[in-house]
Amino acid sequence: MEKSQRIVIIGEENDQYKLVAESITESFEVQLIETRYVRNEVKKQELNIAILLNSKTENPIDTIHYMRKENPNLTILFIHDSQDFELYRDVIRAGATDFLVIPDELPLLNDKLNSMFLQRKTMTELAATSGTFQRGSGQVFAFYSGKGGSGKTFLSSLFAQTLKLESTAQVLYIDLNLQYGGAETFLGMESSRSIIDLKPVIREINEHHIRNVAEKETHSKLDVLLSPRDAELAESIDSEFIESLLKACRRSYDFVIVDIPSYMDEVGAAVLEDADRVYYVMTLDTPAIKGLKHVEVLFQRLGIITNDRMDIVINNSGSENELTKKDLEKFVKYPITAQIRRDAKGVLSAINQGNPIRKEPKEKKLIPAAKDIQKWVTSMLK
Ligand SMILES: Nc1ncnc2c1ncn2[C@@H]1O[C@H](COP(=O)(O)OP(=O)(O)OP(=O)(O)O)[C@@H](O)[C@H]1O
Ligand SMILES: [Mg+2]
Repeated sequence: MEKSQRIVIIGEENDQYKLVAESITESFEVQLIETRYVRNEVKKQELNIAILLNSKTENPIDTIHYMRKENPNLTILFIHDSQDFELYRDVIRAGATDFLVIPDELPLLNDKLNSMFLQRKTMTELAATSGTFQRGSGQVFAFYSGKGGSGKTFLSSLFAQTLKLESTAQVLYIDLNLQYGGAETFLGMESSRSIIDLKPVIREINEHHIRNVAEKETHSKLDVLLSPRDAELAESIDSEFIESLLKACRRSYDFVIVDIPSYMDEVGAAVLEDADRVYYVMTLDTPAIKGLKHVEVLFQRLGIITNDRMDIVINNSGSENELTKKDLEKFVKYPITAQIRRDAKGVLSAINQGNPIRKEPKEKKLIPAAKDIQKWVTSMLK
C-alpha cells in the first residue's frame, strides 16, 4: 500500500470513531491515535491526513494548533456530531482544512478524503516545480552499487551539492561508509563530529539534534552527516538507529541523499528498503552487469523489493567504454536515468586542491561530470 494513503483518526474508540472508521473505503489505511497520546504520536510519525473527532475532554483548537506546529503540511478534517458554526469557524482559523457533521454528512466522507489526497498531490507537485518545498515528507535517495569503486561517493556527493545549489530545497547528505568514510574528500571537509554523536539521542531525535551534528559544506551550505571512520564505533550503528534517523531526517529536509557502501549489512539494507529511490551506479562494462545480477539475487534473499524504485546511473562514460548505453539497456530492466562522463583530470585536480566540485549556483565553468549531474538534477526538479 502506498504510504500516502494512510489516514489517522484522532479521538477515542467510541461509537463516533467506529462509524467513521467503518465508513472509510478500503483504499485507505486507517489508524486510531487516542487524543491523549496525540502529542507523542505527532512527534514520532509523519502524518499526511488526520481526521480529528471532536473530543469532550480536549479542546480541538489546542489539538489542531499542536498538530500543525509539529507538522505544518498536515491536512486536518474536523468531525463533530452536530452543527456548530462558531466552533467550525474557530477550527478552520486554527488550521483545520475542512469539517463534516457525522452522521448527517457521512455519505460525503470518502469523496472529501479523496479530494484531500488529490489536493495534497497537486500541492506537492506544484511545490516541486516552483522551487519551494514543503517540509515534513522529505525524500530519501540512496546511491548504491554492488561493485566497489564505481563512483557512488563521487556521484552522490556531487548530486547533493548540485541539488542544494540549484534549488531552494533543504538537503542533507549522509555518508554511511561507517568504517572508511570517503565523502569528506570530495566535499573538501574535515570534521570531528559524526553520525555517532546522534547515538545518545536517537530515541527522541529531532531536527535540532541533526542540525547540531551535521556539518555545513561552506560553499553550497549543504548539511552533511559524516561517518566516524572507526570500525568499532561503526558497529554500534544498527538498522533501528538508521530507521529512526531517516524518519527524523524526512521531517526536517526535503531531500536526504545517502551514500551506501558496496558491502551489504543491516544498515545498508535498512536504507535500501526505506529509500524512495535507489540510484544504482554502473560503469559500461561486463563486470558491472555481473555485479548487478549478484545484487538482484542478494536483494531477493533479503526481501528488498526495488522493482519500481531503482534507476541506473551510468558513470565513467566515455569513448573507451567496453559497452554502450544501448548494450546496457538490453541487459537491465531498470530505467537509465543519467549518464555521467569520465573526467579523470578535472576530478583529480579538484580533490588535490581540497575543493568541492561545485561552489556556487549556476556556475559556468564546470567539469563534464558536474555538467551531467546538473542536467540530471535540473530535469528531476522540473
Ligand atoms: N565520472 C568520473 N570521472 C572521473 N573520475 C571519477 C568519476 N567517478 C568516479 N571517479 C573516481 O573514481 C574513484 C572511485 O570513486 P568513488 O570513491 O566515488 O567510488 P565508490 O563507488 O564510492 O567506491 P567505494 O566502493 O570504495 O566506496 C575516485 O577516485 C573518483 O575520483
Ligand atoms: Mg564510496
